[in-house]
Amino acid sequence: MTKTFAVIGDPIDHSLSPNIHNAAFNALGMDCTYIAYRVPRGELKEGIESLRQIKISGFNVTIPHKIEMMKYLDESSEECKIIGAVNTVTNENDKLVGYNTDMDGFLEPIKKRDIAIKDEDVLLLGAGGAARAIVAGFAKEKAHKITIANRTKERGQELAKFAASLGVESNAMSLDEAGQNAGKYKFIVNATSVGLKNEPSPISTNAINSQSVVYDIIYMPMNTDFITQSKKNLATVIYGYEMLLGQACLAFEIWHKVKAPYDVMRKVLLGGF
Ligand code: ATR
Repeated sequence: MTKTFAVIGDPIDHSLSPNIHNAAFNALGMDCTYIAYRVPRGELKEGIESLRQIKISGFNVTIPHKIEMMKYLDESSEECKIIGAVNTVTNENDKLVGYNTDMDGFLEPIKKRDIAIKDEDVLLLGAGGAARAIVAGFAKEKAHKITIANRTKERGQELAKFAASLGVESNAMSLDEAGQNAGKYKFIVNATSVGLKNEPSPISTNAINSQSVVYDIIYMPMNTDFITQSKKNLATVIYGYEMLLGQACLAFEIWHKVKAPYDVMRKVLLGGF
């Protein structure tokens, strides 16, 4: 019988996850399908009930359900517990088990480039759900210090506390200060939503230089202003689509227990832009 997988969230119609996973199924000749299912905020419980009824084999969870989904799991991985959010769920005999592949999916393109994280300083823009998984990732890789720059100061301070709780030095500052000091950090990561609508970079990029590693987790558009300006300053850039692929490959491997066909998935993703 065909196994069905899904991504749930809202908005969901522009999600590229069905393209990525279905391309992988085709390439490997697997009898599986992956659909996008819109579940509005406030309707998660009912949404999950429907998925159980169709005997969903597994699903991804995206905005706005990553945190609330924790409540509906029968079991969760260590990473989920630390981050407090889930993006991948398996369903075996009606038992829902949660995983979080955002953290390792984020780290994957850094590792692929052989860029060391240990003892390096990180400037992280944003303090939302995505930023939390990123903090956990840098903590796991033993970064020296994480500076959180966020529009709302309190949220930035809150996330800095979370970093400290994971054993990493941390502090919080404004986006203005971050722009002035950006040259002092090895990694500069955008985890705000600024750029999704082609806005100018959330910080001044003047101090970014050839030693900087600039990572934007926004994948649509692929070339945000933050990325474009940083490239002009000769920084090493990492694209948001690489994190998207990283988390998708890891989810694929959790569900199917076979190596994800990365190149096939990358090709269809880039074709989707
Ligand atoms: P996600 O789960 O994708 O991280 P989120 O939790 O809504 O989404 O977080 C969005 C991030 O983008 C937050 O850090 C937000 O800053 P605030 O904490 O001040 O809300 C940031 N953000 C959104 N719009 C912004 C803007 N116009 N300027 C600066 N930061 C912005």
